[in-house]
Amino acid sequence: MQTPAPLRFLLLGFGNVAKAFIPLLASRSDWLAREYGVLPIISGIGTRRHGYFVHATGIDATSLAQSSDPLQHFSSELQPLEDAIAFIVEGKNAGATMLIELTTQHPQDGQPALLSRHTHTQFRFESTVMDGLPLVNLAQYTLPGVDIRSFRALLNSTTNLVLSLIEQGHSLPKAIEKAQQLGIAEADPSYDLDGWDATLKTTILANTLLAGRITPQQVTCEGIRDLPSETIRAAAQAGTPIRLVSYANRQDGYIVASVTPRPLPSNDILQRGIGTTGVISLDTEAMGTISLVEHAPTVLQTAYGVFSDLVTIVQQRDRGQGRATAQWASR
Ligand SMILES: NC(=O)c1ccc[n+]([C@@H]2O[C@H](COP(=O)([O-])OP(=O)(O)OC[C@H]3O[C@@H](n4cnc5c(N)ncnc54)[C@H](OP(=O)(O)O)[C@@H]3O)[C@@H](O)[C@H]2O)c1
Repeated sequence: MQTPAPLRFLLLGFGNVAKAFIPLLASRSDWLAREYGVLPIISGIGTRRHGYFVHATGIDATSLAQSSDPLQHFSSELQPLEDAIAFIVEGKNAGATMLIELTTQHPQDGQPALLSRHTHTQFRFESTVMDGLPLVNLAQYTLPGVDIRSFRALLNSTTNLVLSLIEQGHSLPKAIEKAQQLGIAEADPSYDLDGWDATLKTTILANTLLAGRITPQQVTCEGIRDLPSETIRAAAQAGTPIRLVSYANRQDGYIVASVTPRPLPSNDILQRGIGTTGVISLDTEAMGTISLVEHAPTVLQTAYGVFSDLVTIVQQRDRGQGRATAQWASR
């Protein structure tokens, strides 16, 4: 086997997902070398509070995965750069050709992820909607020209879990508390409960799967916060549990999209969305209805989605189609 060529990239954000991504990447380094002749090298790590660091030669994923404090490899030896822009410029100078962004996104302006728009780079985002479940890649590579006409989906695990817990007898505050203890709900769960997170994801899917050009403001949105617990329990007892359903439909070139709590009929595949399990059902012209279920995803599935985008980019480069890329994961 030839010596693998370095595949240098920057990591923006070093939280739970990044910490799961490094060992996953390390465990597949030999495979990447065998299949694609590349060796993943982390040229820099940047975070809002710890600072932005670029290493002249970079550190390979396997060495970094063996470290108990990977960030320290950068922060203890190097001077921090001024900001994320300086980080990217310096990273490019050090040979990095990819930026993997794993930050908590700003929900109103999409920053810092949308930096890529200004730099004319490729932007892959498989993990943004359903962790590692292939949706963008499925439509783009596996089912080309299938013509997806609409989708229905459960895209927000916090509301799925909270509704499931209320069905089991918990009050809304208790259900939220329990979801927080399980590490699913954030400290401030408003974006999830009020449907904003599902609205962003619905927008992403409407624009990628249905070739729309809508903004989140064009999605009809209603959260679960005002649903009486008795209504939620009665619906579950009747065999039609209520879930926050994302829906988008393309008709005559127009997209109609919504995020609303709906009772699910007993034969509805979305009923598989118990706890944190996510479900999506695609109505296609050429393949009828296709449904995918992601059973109780963890951070590993999110990390895998990032890894799968990295592999896609490497494959494209091999075919001479790839340029640098930005990657953004978001739940
Ligand atoms: N955890 C999951 O299971 C999961 C699943 C699906 C999707 N996601 C999504 O994946 C992303 C990362 O999640 P996570 O769990 O890894 O989050 P996290 O543990 O909170 O880590 C976020 C990281 O991003 C950095 N950061 C935030 N804003 C930044 C900014 N403006 N500039 C530079 N760095 C910034 C933080 O830096 P500081 O620490 O210095 O503030 C931190 O290192 C989020 O968008 C999340 O919604 C997570």
